[in-house]
Formats: sequence, C-alpha cells, structure tokens
Amino acid sequence: MGNIQLMSTSLANQIAAGEVVVRPASCVKELIENSLDAGAKHITVSLREGGIAELVVQDDGVGMDESDATLAFARHATSKVYDEHDLTRIRTLGFRGEALASIAAVSRVTLTTRTRTSEYGVLVRVEGGEMAPVEHVGATYGTRIEVTDLFYNTPARLKYLRTVQTEQAKSVEVVQKAALSRPDVAFTCQTEHHVLFQTPGNGDIRAVLASLYGVGEAKQLLEVNETTPDYKVTGLVGRPTQGRTSRSGAHLFVNGRPVRNLAIHQAVIQGYKNRLMIGKQPIYSISLEMDPTLVDVNVHPHKAEVRFSEEADVCRTVARAVAKALDDTLLAPTPQRTTARQVTEVQPLALDYNPAQHEAGAPERADGSAAAGAAGGARHTGGHAPAGRPSYPAGARAKQPALRELGAMYASSPSEGVSQPDAHAGAARDVVSGDSMETADADIGMDISPQARKQNWHLRPIGQALGMYVLADDGESLYIIDQHAAHERILFEDFYQRLASGQVHAMPLLAPIQLTLPPTTYTRVTKMAEQLAELGLTVEPFGGYDVMIRTVPDVWEGLDVHALAEATIEALPNSDLARDDFFQTMYDVVATRACKAAVKANWHLSQEELEALCRALTKADDPFHCPHGRPVFLQWTGKQLEKEFKRIV
Ligand SMILES: Nc1ncnc2c1ncn2[C@@H]1O[C@H](COP(=O)(O)OP(=O)(O)OP(=O)(O)O)[C@@H](O)[C@H]1O
Ligand SMILES: [Mg+2]
Repeated sequence: MGNIQLMSTSLANQIAAGEVVVRPASCVKELIENSLDAGAKHITVSLREGGIAELVVQDDGVGMDESDATLAFARHATSKVYDEHDLTRIRTLGFRGEALASIAAVSRVTLTTRTRTSEYGVLVRVEGGEMAPVEHVGATYGTRIEVTDLFYNTPARLKYLRTVQTEQAKSVEVVQKAALSRPDVAFTCQTEHHVLFQTPGNGDIRAVLASLYGVGEAKQLLEVNETTPDYKVTGLVGRPTQGRTSRSGAHLFVNGRPVRNLAIHQAVIQGYKNRLMIGKQPIYSISLEMDPTLVDVNVHPHKAEVRFSEEADVCRTVARAVAKALDDTLLAPTPQRTTARQVTEVQPLALDYNPAQHEAGAPERADGSAAAGAAGGARHTGGHAPAGRPSYPAGARAKQPALRELGAMYASSPSEGVSQPDAHAGAARDVVSGDSMETADADIGMDISPQARKQNWHLRPIGQALGMYVLADDGESLYIIDQHAAHERILFEDFYQRLASGQVHAMPLLAPIQLTLPPTTYTRVTKMAEQLAELGLTVEPFGGYDVMIRTVPDVWEGLDVHALAEATIEALPNSDLARDDFFQTMYDVVATRACKAAVKANWHLSQEELEALCRALTKADDPFHCPHGRPVFLQWTGKQLEKEFKRIV
C-alpha cells in the first residue's frame, strides 16, 4: 500500500485558511465583502482586543435561509459564481466560496441570519470547522457573524499576530477602505470601549473622507471625473500641499474592490505633473469602473491586487483625470486661521533694522545649491540694490536669466501688468477665504478659474520683504510671494515650453562625460537612446556598462551638466511608456532639474524686476507652485484681513 492519503476536510480547510486568514483584519475584510455582496446598507464592525479575542460584523443585507446558512461554511460553496463563464465577468466581491470555510477552520464562529421572508432567524455555530445543530432564534433582518478566539487551534499562527493596537489598526484600515469604496453604505467601526468612526452612508465620498481625515482636510480635496468608452474614473484627489510622506492616504478601488496597484499610483503622481513636493505622496480616493472582462480579480489570495488587460490604457486615463482635476483648479494656499493669528501675535518690528546684518545672515536655500561651482553662460541681472537695502553676492545671481527678460517672454500688452485694483475688483471674485478651521461652509474654495485669472489677473507688486518675499495685491487679496519659488516656476515653464515645442537643441560638450551605470539602468538608457537624443542628450555605449554623453540640452547651458545628465538618466521611466507620455515625463525631468540648478539664493529685485516677476507669474500655467510642489503664494483675501482686524466678525 502506498503512502499517500487524502486529507480530512478539516485539515484541508485549515491549510487553505492559511492563505485567506492571516490576521483579524483578513476576517474583517472577508465578512464586510460578504455583507456588501448581500446588499447591506448598514454594516457595523466591532472589535474586542484588536479583533483577536472577538470580531463581529453585523449587516442588514438579504440574509440566508436555513439551508444556505449551513452550506455557507462548506468549502467552494458560493452563491456568486456558477460556471467558468461567470469567472470572467465577476461583479461581486466574493467568488471563491472559501472565506467562511477558512475563517471557521481557525476560530469559533457564530452566524445569526434572517431573510426578509422568514419569521425567525437561524443560528449556526461552527468550531474548528465542526458545525453544531442549527437553532431557530429571534433575530433582526440581515446577518451577524461573530468570530471568537481566532487561531485558538493553530498556535503557530497566533504567535505571528502583532500587538492588539497593531491588529486593531489593520482592521480599522480595512473598514476605512470599505467605507471609501462604498459611500452609499453606512459603516460603524467600534471597539468594546468606543466608536472609532462612523460614515453617514449618504453616497458622498467627501463625507466619508471627512470622517476619516477630518472636515478641514476633506474640504480641500478636488473632484476627479473622467469617462471614456472603456473606463469611468471618479473620486477625490488631494491638493499638492496635502501630500504625505507615506502612501497611507492613497486609496484605489477597481469595480468597488480596494486594490493596490503601483502602476496606477504612479499614474496619479504623473497627473500631478510636477506639483507634488519631492518625497511627498498624494492622498486620493479614486474609483475605477470598467467592464469586468477587462480586469482579472482572481490573481491574489486576498484579492488585494488585480490585473488589467490594458494597463497602459488605464494608467493614461487615470493620469489624465487627475491632471484635469488639478489643472482646472488653481491652487493658492491661503494661510490658515492659526497662521493668521500668529501673525497678529508677532512682536512689533525692531526699529533699528540693520540691512548689513541681515545680508550676512541671509540663509542660502538648500535647493539652490545644485549649480554651485558651475560656471559660464552667465547672464547678469545687474546690480539694482540701492544703498541701505539688502543686496546679494553677484556670484549667486550669475546664471539667472534676468527677470525683465523673463517678463518679456510672456508677451503682454502695454496696459498689462499695471494694477488697477478698482477696475478689476471682481475679476478674481472666486478668491475667497479658505479657513480650514471652520466646519463645512460654501465659501471655502480658494481657486481662481484659469480663464478668469488669465484674462484679468493683475498683480501689483508692493515691494520686497525680508530679502526673499515679494508683497503684491490684485485689488482683492494681499499676496506674499516666495520669489525663489516664483522664479523657479517661471524658468521651469520656459524650459518646458522650449522642450515641448522642439526649441531645444543639442549642445556638444567639449569634454564628453563618461558614466558607469548599473546594468538595469544601462539597458534602459541604450533602449531609449533615440528618444534621449531628441531631447538633446546624446548617449553612446562605451564598453561594459559605460556610456559616453556627447551632447546635452542647451537649456542646461552654464549649469552642472554632469550632475544633470546623471539625474536625468536616473529618472528614466522603468516601464515602457507611450511616446507622448515618455516625452511628457522627460520634459518634466529635464526642465525641473534645470530650473532647480539655475535658481540661486537671495537676490534683490528692482521695481522693474518686481513687475516682470508679477507679470510672468500671472501668465504662468500654474503660478501657485514651484516645480517641486512648494507653494509660491500665500494669500489673504480682503475679507479675511477685515476679519483678522476685527472690522467684521
Ligand atoms: N453576510 C452575508 N449575507 C448573506 N449571505 C452571505 C453572507 N455571508 C456569506 N453569505 C453567503 O455565503 C456564501 C459563502 O460565503 P464565502 O465568503 O465563504 O464565499 P464567497 O463570498 O462566495 O466567495 P469568497 O470566498 O471569494 O469570499 C456566499 O456566497 C453567500 O451566499
Ligand atoms: Mg465572501
């Protein structure tokens, strides 16, 4: 007789459960999915000791009759998929018929359920996969599943659970994701001590985000809405200033299912263009709807990933949708009330202000240091510093195109750039107070529609402050402009435009640069050599993993071309992008690095330069952020100032 024997069902179920049930949060996820599939409109999740001791999911869905309630615990028992054909067009969250069997194999489960047509409820107890006789009980409509003592019979797995707090946090995250995926369902998440959060279930995704992140944060989010014949993209994305250091605020749903997908995350980032601060991750909650045949949901044991049949297509659509949401809204951060209060509390200015001291102590901004040591290509902005005003070393300004010239690039009629506050009162009516301390009210938007801004926006420079800021007003609001960030933005748009319109030429290097690359980068570079050449960067193989750079884009003239070439090569996209997307990405990279390298520390601005700067900003596509995502403007509306000065309450 051979050695092979068939496993008992309970052993097979325990092994299978290893895939599905890793921790309390996995149970919570499966049970919520079942409740949603059952059409629930209210779902309550209760956790005791982080869900390890007990977790309960109660819903008001369709419920089960007696035979379904007992069959539900059998492996491969499902009401959702009947044949192979169904598997290619899954519209439900569940489809394997495994979850309940798996949970019941490694815990004690009590199921109480009642359908709308039944006069009583059914109670089923399963312990370690063994079912006790069914009981009839009084019950409300819907289903309640209690899972106690998870992993009581598999001590090895119990050992791998983390602290109560960690396990609870993971379960809460699952409920949050579910709530975001279904704003039309009211979720309550509670512990034995208190309610952790609740969503109203009124269909408003912003309301869900408000209960998760707070009203102030949720109010600032921008709407995404894009429909193509194949896809529908909806949801909310954060403003660039809402970026986080981790991806914890990124939520993606595909046909209602929370999933992770790096390519789509990167597409969202691409949609921000260069508005996101370096090192920051966007916050968003984006739902993608598509024909279920275009996406395979059966590729991950926890259904946490999906595979798209046309991933590049999906990514392009998402990037476009996000870009549109951000482009349509121009984003001038308004100082929050807390900041404004601090302003009123600032000590009165010392009257014995000494410009010389100020100059000596003027900090050099870290991001202006990239071009240090690079010489040549100098275009001097000229010394305009009148005596007694802070002035800055000529070296620090050597390579900046004069602001006057920049202003001229944005061709303007003679009257433009001259502020006539009264004539333009109302031109920027949309600029209203953004006070995130208050609860939701209508006048919170702080955006100027692009059309209104482009045609009518006139910024009048008032002067320079602290050596690094420009004060300006447009008849409606008072602005503080970070002159470095502003200059970077203007240079960036100039470089970008020149690249995009093919006005950038290859500049031969007298001393070509030899670089030794990591193998993967080398492969990428040689593969993309032709496109790089179109950007002005000629890269030739030079034996082994070495390359020789013979020309660089002429927008880099006078800058540290070695560092810029290295940075550009490093930033080459990993995946194959469509030609247009490739160039779009690379224009960003080439222009961002170049403008960063071009901008240096403090400089004094003449009245003419101030005007050129303001004029150039009003013509810029996105004057409100530097290419690295930092804000260029702070804004106080007249109304806000009146409030702060207690002229109005
Ligand atoms: N809360 C519920 N309300 C109504 N019916 C439910 C509920 N939970 C489970 N069921 C029924 O029990 C069946 C088995 O559930 P189970 O979660 O094990 O499998 P599934 O949802 O079909 O697939 P998957 O394993 O992918 O989750 C479901 O198909 C459904 O018919
Ligand atoms: Mg299920």
